[in-house]
Amino acid sequence: MLDKPTFPYGTGFRSLTREVAEPVPLPVCGELPPWLRGTLLRTGPSKFEVGEQSYNHWFDGLAMLHRFGFAEGRVTYANRLLKSNAFCAAEKTGKIAYGEFATDPCRTLFGRVASLFDPKLTANCNVNVLTMGGETTALTETTLPVRFDPKTLATLGVFGYTPPLRGQISTAHPHYDAVRTRHYSYMVEFGMQSHYRLFSVGDDGAQDLVAELPVDRPAYMHSFAMTEHYLVLVEFPLTVSALALKFSGKPFIQNYRWEPERGLRFHVVDKDSGREVATAKTDAAFAFHHVNAFEDGDSLTIDMVAYPDATIIDALYLARLRAGTPLTATGALTRFEVPLTGDGAVTRGTLAPVALELPRINYETRAGKPYRYVWGTGIQAPGDFLDSILKIDIEAGKVARWYEAGLYPGEPVFVPQPSAGSEDEGVLLSVVLDIEKDRSFLLVLDAAMLEERARAEAPHAIPFHFHGNYFASPSLPA
Ligand SMILES: [Fe+2]
Repeated sequence: MLDKPTFPYGTGFRSLTREVAEPVPLPVCGELPPWLRGTLLRTGPSKFEVGEQSYNHWFDGLAMLHRFGFAEGRVTYANRLLKSNAFCAAEKTGKIAYGEFATDPCRTLFGRVASLFDPKLTANCNVNVLTMGGETTALTETTLPVRFDPKTLATLGVFGYTPPLRGQISTAHPHYDAVRTRHYSYMVEFGMQSHYRLFSVGDDGAQDLVAELPVDRPAYMHSFAMTEHYLVLVEFPLTVSALALKFSGKPFIQNYRWEPERGLRFHVVDKDSGREVATAKTDAAFAFHHVNAFEDGDSLTIDMVAYPDATIIDALYLARLRAGTPLTATGALTRFEVPLTGDGAVTRGTLAPVALELPRINYETRAGKPYRYVWGTGIQAPGDFLDSILKIDIEAGKVARWYEAGLYPGEPVFVPQPSAGSEDEGVLLSVVLDIEKDRSFLLVLDAAMLEERARAEAPHAIPFHFHGNYFASPSLPA
């Protein structure tokens, strides 16, 4: 039985299957910056039912791509479902055919045994969008990113990793190193001996293994940290036995166990030598999102949106969300100082005592370096879903908030103004759901002041989703 509805945000978890394949102009209220010429590409779960079956969790839904094209003060919109293996098989059979984060298709015993030898990894890339190795790709947490056409949103096929890169699970949050002109990421390979594999993908598509770390019980990690010289895998104590994962028959995440006694473990790997130069451990915590990290003498500063435990995963099952159940698990911007040498202790502290998720920074100029500002979604009304946009000034210890009752903003993507003089000079782009109108709109906020510059209403309500990126492209038509 569902809990009594408390908040109206359940609308954000209703399926959207309607496609606007040809870009349509959106009515603009306010003024779009004339320098905003490019494309915001986003992905997210959008189809939560297949035939008579339903997915269980927000992270499971079949992916939809959204495109907002900007030029000459105008904006257009288009959206298309990602034609992944999971989507195509569901269309063909009328059933859920691929296991997702918290949903497993009902398989016969034979099906389960067969899948051990021919694992059916989902390519339902509903988490993030970025350009990697010269390709525009959507990503999820398996090792099957999907390439698509950024102009038409047509699905093109799987982004291929070549051996020795092997694994089943990866991250939808690779980091980009502008000096080395390559992305860095990791895979997890489950086996008799499981491994973490850190790797890079050059702008030219060349792929390199950076390091291979054996692991007994792989941790669930949604993202990782990167500084100028180092990659940092932070193992949260939510871990799994590879055998359980293969034989339990349970959905993926339900095989993981919260084991706080393992603590939080940091693995620091040198990007260039591949050597693990430091390990460190502190008390348990959980996070989806790293925010930024940088080197500070003999230590690393690693910021993430940390939760005391992993109960946030349980809070995001669709039945609870659709019922408007109050959200009690909230994360906060937390700083960890990790020593690079000797036996120094890890220190930690909360940088801002407010609920935060879907954090963004001025990635172009501040990724891997000391920085001052974090933007993200927050919670104004206690127990509500993400209902506001935050700007955290780490240096001044101040928090600013944009909030309007009944509006639910998504991840605010920071777009720097060309030739910007300061870290926060630019705009934020956020897709906001207006519950009463049952419509979404693109909100453009001044990133420094959190003041509204413009809003442009989309032709439908867009379900709550995760991530996307803005791609500046002066020659792209809107
Ligand atoms: Fe994420």
